[in-house]
Amino acid sequence: MTPPLLIGNWKSNTSYTEAVSLVDASLEAVIAADGKVWVGVTPPFPWLMALRERLGQGHLWIGAQNCSATEMGAYTGEVTASMLKDCVTFVIVGHSERRAYYGETDDVVRAKVTRVLEQDLHAVLCVGEVLEQRQAGDAEHVVKTQLLAALEGYPEDKLYRLVVAYEPVWAIGTGVAATAEDAEDMCAFIRGVLNDRFGDSSDIIIQYGGSANEKNAAELLAKPNVGGLLIGGASLKPDAFAAMIQAAVSLSLI
Ligand code: 13P
Repeated sequence: MTPPLLIGNWKSNTSYTEAVSLVDASLEAVIAADGKVWVGVTPPFPWLMALRERLGQGHLWIGAQNCSATEMGAYTGEVTASMLKDCVTFVIVGHSERRAYYGETDDVVRAKVTRVLEQDLHAVLCVGEVLEQRQAGDAEHVVKTQLLAALEGYPEDKLYRLVVAYEPVWAIGTGVAATAEDAEDMCAFIRGVLNDRFGDSSDIIIQYGGSANEKNAAELLAKPNVGGLLIGGASLKPDAFAAMIQAAVSLSLI
């Protein structure tokens, strides 16, 4: 069975010095996990290459938080997947903060998934509903629409390069995570959508994200359809992140 996948999304945080001490601390926890948990972190763009050189290619994976929907060219300020290829293993695509603050549509998200695959990187595709949509009973519909739009034309021989992160927007940065039951229900729903879309989707890891921390990690990860966590705030605290890795290791031993 695939080990649980924990990814720290650092967002627009850390100085370079803080980034180095965070990866060093995370690496220690990852080495102690001895392959029973897969772990990645996504530092800000300017630190990526130096951190990759520091870490090498094993143990702790380095990812990017975003990439351009375009290829190289006259697109001022954009960072293309081809530029990221030599410093990261995976790219987060379609995070709700990108959708909400930078106007990323499903079409843009799909283009980014395509760019990521072209460079043989892994895509962590984020989907999730806002509170009003959940309260209106539309959560599944919203998530399914985001998923199918982003995965239109997705090649079936690249399923192992795809991670889906269910991140309910109302749980992100609020300190109020989804209950383990709600996370499980939506991750199970996503599994069903992926199975309908691709036949067998067992190569695709499905994560939960949104106020995951060292207190709720074990309960969330114990759910059969929650294959990992996408972690914001808690991934910036070395002790909390290490405790989450340890929680995942303990579950893998059961
Ligand atoms: P928090 O863990 O801070 O809620 O952030 C979740 C997230 O957005 C990860 O991508």
